[in-house]
Amino acid sequence: MRDQSSLRMAQPGDIDEIVSLVNGYASDSVMLPITSERVALALADFIVAADARGRVRACGALKEYSPSLAEVASLAVARDAHGSGLGRRVVAELEALARMRGIDELFALTLTSGFFESVGYVVTERARYPEKIRRDCTSCPRRFGCNEVCVARMLRADTLEYAA
Ligand SMILES: CC(C)(COP(=O)(O)OP(=O)(O)OC[C@H]1O[C@@H](n2cnc3c(N)ncnc32)[C@H](O)[C@@H]1OP(=O)(O)O)[C@@H](O)C(=O)NCCC(=O)NCCS
Repeated sequence: MRDQSSLRMAQPGDIDEIVSLVNGYASDSVMLPITSERVALALADFIVAADARGRVRACGALKEYSPSLAEVASLAVARDAHGSGLGRRVVAELEALARMRGIDELFALTLTSGFFESVGYVVTERARYPEKIRRDCTSCPRRFGCNEVCVARMLRADTLEYAA
């Protein structure tokens, strides 16, 4: 069943719930952990889905690498809401935010490439994003055993080089 949560930009009062949502998956090694300080600094880049009582049910962020390139990061949906369309809606909202900011291309490194493929991303080479490798991968504790898959989506119709 479709989840009834509404999507909005994150607010300071959401920080603790975002951290606990993401770190709940980090403890299962599905995501990398985040801290409240990092979320607070990047709050303007976070979208949340909140239920009628204001509780955060899902989140996701844009991590910008250049004026035209950003990563879909910290994407997480509460376990009891999986499969109800929230992940798709958060990604769509992040794409709308990216378009508004003039960003042409989004990528993600993920263990759930199947989800991203379902919402319009294609698998590509991580080497395409040396900015990401320099910023995060070279200092990541999992860099020698990383099994994340790189997925990407071009947002502008005239840069559809991944289109089938
Ligand atoms: C991955 C995740 C964000 C998906 O969110 P969700 O709300 O359950 O996904 P949706 O209900 O919006 O599903 C959208 C589509 O993706 C598919 N999908 C969802 N999870 C999938 C998965 N793990 N593998 C393959 N396909 C998946 C759904 O079947 C659906 O496809 P359809 O529209 O063709 O039927 C969520 O499972 C999650 O938070 N996982 C743990 C954290 C994580 O892995 N985050 C991503 C890190 S980059």
